[in-house]
Amino acid sequence: MTTPAPQTLAKLTPVLTKRWLSPDAWRIDTYEKLDGYAALRKAIKAHPDDLIQLVKDSGLRGRGGAGFPTGLKWGFIPQGDGKPHYLVVNADEGEPGTCKDLPLMTHDPHSLVEGVIIASYAIRANRAYIYIRGEAVHAARRLRNAVNEAYAKGYLGRDILGSGFDLDLVVHSGAGAYICGEETALLDSLEGFRGQPRLRPPFPATHGLYASPTVVNNVGTIASVPYIVLGGADWWKSMGTEKSAGPMIYSLSGRIANPGQYECGLGITLRELIELAGGMQPGHNLKFWTPGGSSTPLLTAEHLDVPLDFEGVAAAGSILGTTATQIFSDQDCPVYATYRWLEFYHHESCGKCTPCREGNYWMVRVYRRILAGQGTQDDLDTLLDTCDNILGRSFCGLGDGATSPVTSSLKYFKQDYLDYIEGRTAPKLSDKQLVGAH
Ligand SMILES: Cc1cc2nc3c(=O)[nH]c(=O)nc-3n(C[C@H](O)[C@H](O)[C@H](O)COP(=O)(O)O)c2cc1C
Ligand code: SF4
Repeated sequence: MTTPAPQTLAKLTPVLTKRWLSPDAWRIDTYEKLDGYAALRKAIKAHPDDLIQLVKDSGLRGRGGAGFPTGLKWGFIPQGDGKPHYLVVNADEGEPGTCKDLPLMTHDPHSLVEGVIIASYAIRANRAYIYIRGEAVHAARRLRNAVNEAYAKGYLGRDILGSGFDLDLVVHSGAGAYICGEETALLDSLEGFRGQPRLRPPFPATHGLYASPTVVNNVGTIASVPYIVLGGADWWKSMGTEKSAGPMIYSLSGRIANPGQYECGLGITLRELIELAGGMQPGHNLKFWTPGGSSTPLLTAEHLDVPLDFEGVAAAGSILGTTATQIFSDQDCPVYATYRWLEFYHHESCGKCTPCREGNYWMVRVYRRILAGQGTQDDLDTLLDTCDNILGRSFCGLGDGATSPVTSSLKYFKQDYLDYIEGRTAPKLSDKQLVGAH
C-alpha cells in the first residue's frame, strides 16, 4: 500500500461525509451538536424563491447520474397553481458499483432529512417521500428513526419552528428493482403500480406524483442543500470546477488497496483517487474502469488523468454517472465483466419496450457462446448491431446504459474477445451454461 502525497491528501474535501466517523452521528443529539438543523433555522426565515435562487447560484447539479441543474429543476415547479406539490428523494441506488447514498443515510440520515425540509419549503411541498431500495434494511431503519426524532423535535409536522410551514415525510421501501430508480418508474411504484417508466412529456415537474408537480432528486443532491444554505453559493463553487461545482462522493471499488468513499472536489482524476486509496492491490495493474457505474462506457489506463467532472468525462467518451469507479486490473477479463453486467441488465429490464427486453436477452446468449469458446467473428458484429438497435431506441435509460459496457469493451478490448473466439483464452463457461445460446 502506498501513502498519498500531502498535495493529493489535501484534495479530500469532506463535506457530506464529514460526520460519518463521529460516534452516533445518526442520532439527533449528536447531529445538532455538529451544526445539525442550523441550516433549517436559517432557511425557514428566507423567502422560498430566494432559496431556489441560492441553489441555482451554487451550480449544484443532480448527484443521481444525469447532472441536471438542481435549482433549475426546482424552478420548474409552477407556483400558485392550487395543486399539492411533492418532493421525492430517490434513494434506490441500484446502479452496479454505486454505494454513496446508503452510507450517507446510515451514518448521517439527519443531513438528508434536513435537506428534505429545506427543499420542500423552497418548492412549497407539504408532503415528501424518500423512496429507499427494499434491501437497504439497515439504512431504512436509521432513516425512519431520524424521521421520528425530527418529528419529536418539531422539525417535521405542523408549524415547523413556528414558521407556519407544515411538512410530512414518509420513508417508503421499494421491493428492490433497478428500474424503480428511474424517476418515473419510481413514481409509479410509489403510487402502488408496477414500476415501469412513464412516457414524457409531461414531465414530473408538472405531472409527477398523483399527477401533481413533483421534484425528484437524488439523496446526495438533497443532502447537499443544508451545506449550501450555511456555507453560501461561493463557498460551494470554490470546490469542483467551473461547470461542475462542489464536492462529490467518489465510490472506489475493485483492485485497489482501500476501497471506499472518497469525497473530493469534482474534477479530481482517477490517478489521484487511486493514490488516495493507497494504490492498486499488489501485483495488479489498471486495465479498465467505470467512471460512474456500469451504465457508463469503460475507460482504460490511458484515461488516468481525465478530470472526473461532467464535462471532462464526456470529452473522454464516457459519462460521469454516479461516480462509482469500479477498478479492474490486468488479471480481470473485460469480456466476462461485460457479460456479468449484461446478465444484470437482462434481469432488470422491465420488459416494456422491445429493444431492451429482446436485445439484452439475445446479447446475454451471444456472450455465453463467446465465453464458452464457441463464438465467431460474426458474433462481434451481431453485438454491435444489437447495441445500435437498443441505444436511442429504448423507452428509458436502462436500455441505453446496457449498451455502454458492450460497445466500449469492444472498442478498447476487441483482442480479448478474439482470444476467446480463436482459442487463445480458455473458455470461462462450460457447455452446460450454454442453454439457449445458439
Ligand atoms: C435505469 C435507471 C436507474 C436509475 N437509478 C437511480 C437511482 O438509483 N438513484 C438516483 O438518484 N437516480 C437514478 N436514476 C436517475 C433518475 O431517473 C433521476 O435522473 C434522478 O433521480 C434525478 O435526481 P438528481 O437530479 O438529483 O440527480 C436512474 C435512471 C435510470 C434510467
Ligand atoms: S429500456 Fe428496458 S427498462 Fe426501460 S422501459 Fe424499455 S424495457 Fe423497460
